[in-house]
Amino acid sequence: MVLVAEMLQHVQVTVPAAHPEVVGVVAVPAIEKIVDLDRVLAEDKATRPVGVALGMALDVDAHAESLTARRTAASRWSRRSTCTRDNRDAMRDLDGKFAFVTGAGSGLGREIALTFARAGARVAVNDLRAEAVSAVHEELAALDASLACGPLAGDVADSSVVRGWFAALAAATGGRLDILVNNAGYADSDGENRERLARQVQELTTTGRITTALDTTRRLTDERWARMIAVHLTGTFNCTRAALDLMAPRGSGRIINMASIGATTGIAGATHYCAAKGGIASFTKALAREVGVQGILVNAIAPGYIDTPLLDVFGDAREVSSALIATQTVLGRLGEAREVAATALFLAGPGSSYFTGQILSPNGGLVI
Ligand SMILES: NC(=O)c1ccc[n+]([C@@H]2O[C@H](COP(=O)([O-])OP(=O)(O)OC[C@H]3O[C@@H](n4cnc5c(N)ncnc54)[C@H](O)[C@@H]3O)[C@@H](O)[C@H]2O)c1
Repeated sequence: MVLVAEMLQHVQVTVPAAHPEVVGVVAVPAIEKIVDLDRVLAEDKATRPVGVALGMALDVDAHAESLTARRTAASRWSRRSTCTRDNRDAMRDLDGKFAFVTGAGSGLGREIALTFARAGARVAVNDLRAEAVSAVHEELAALDASLACGPLAGDVADSSVVRGWFAALAAATGGRLDILVNNAGYADSDGENRERLARQVQELTTTGRITTALDTTRRLTDERWARMIAVHLTGTFNCTRAALDLMAPRGSGRIINMASIGATTGIAGATHYCAAKGGIASFTKALAREVGVQGILVNAIAPGYIDTPLLDVFGDAREVSSALIATQTVLGRLGEAREVAATALFLAGPGSSYFTGQILSPNGGLVI
């Protein structure tokens, strides 16, 4: 047994997040000029430091064995997905895969579920809102991509309910799950926040200088803090733990967690949201290290601002805030759900077989 702790290094990667000005729950890199809002709205309606500590002491002999197991699992995944040269054209990236997407009744989750289905997967969906998740389940059924467990309505934060979903899922798939997407989530605000946000926008578009404080964290109640952590972070843990029971015995699986650029840049007025998303990013990295030996790849997506119902959190300032965000984004617009779904498809498919512990950020160049 050889300990190679001396190989350990500390790698520091710095992403220049500029010096964020604050626009409500939006952290916008420094506004360099006063925004001509009329023009912006007319033209565009639609409008890290991360320290990675490598803290493992490796047993080299055990490592060699596990590496062989991981290579076998990776090539198995790749073979199943790409098939032979003769019928490659007819095969899709997720043919034969079973996937589960949480929070799939709307926005990104719905788009990911449908994208996976079009790529050949059979998909189970969850949402807190029973009607919404039933509708998506029906859409999947129309694509012949639904699973016999039916729509899994309920709260990802409730661990006993989550266990029930996975029992139903296992019964429908013969105990298999290939892909888990921990997507369920929400953003919240309060009336005071929206008023202060409106004042900030007014200041920014007239004087170019913000003097109003959001002061959101001092108003955060125990309940709002705890619920945000419970849904995003505990919900991700609950579903991941149950999914690992199905993935580990088979020696393969993909787990994709929905983080946010807020995890790395911070978003004023959303400390609870950013804490939850930062936790998801760290959870992703730690779990990737833990389960790689079992052939399971764990990655996260950290989207920028994507045009989904979640942005209704801006209230009346949604359009103006979106326009301001667009001006600070290299591609000049907000993202579309299909662009995040494409990232999820990549992380679920054969092309990402050498990705684990990574955070991919479709953000249009808002953060570089
Ligand atoms: N839209 C963006 O700009 C953006 C940016 C970064 C990250 N995200 C993240 O992407 C994920 C999806 O967001 P979206 O933009 O599609 O929002 P959305 O509001 O359109 O969809 C979120 C879905 O999650 C469901 N949900 C909420 N709480 C739940 C719970 N406890 N259990 C089960 N389902 C629950 C909602 O009912 C809703 O259908 C969230 O985790 C969000 O934080 C979104």
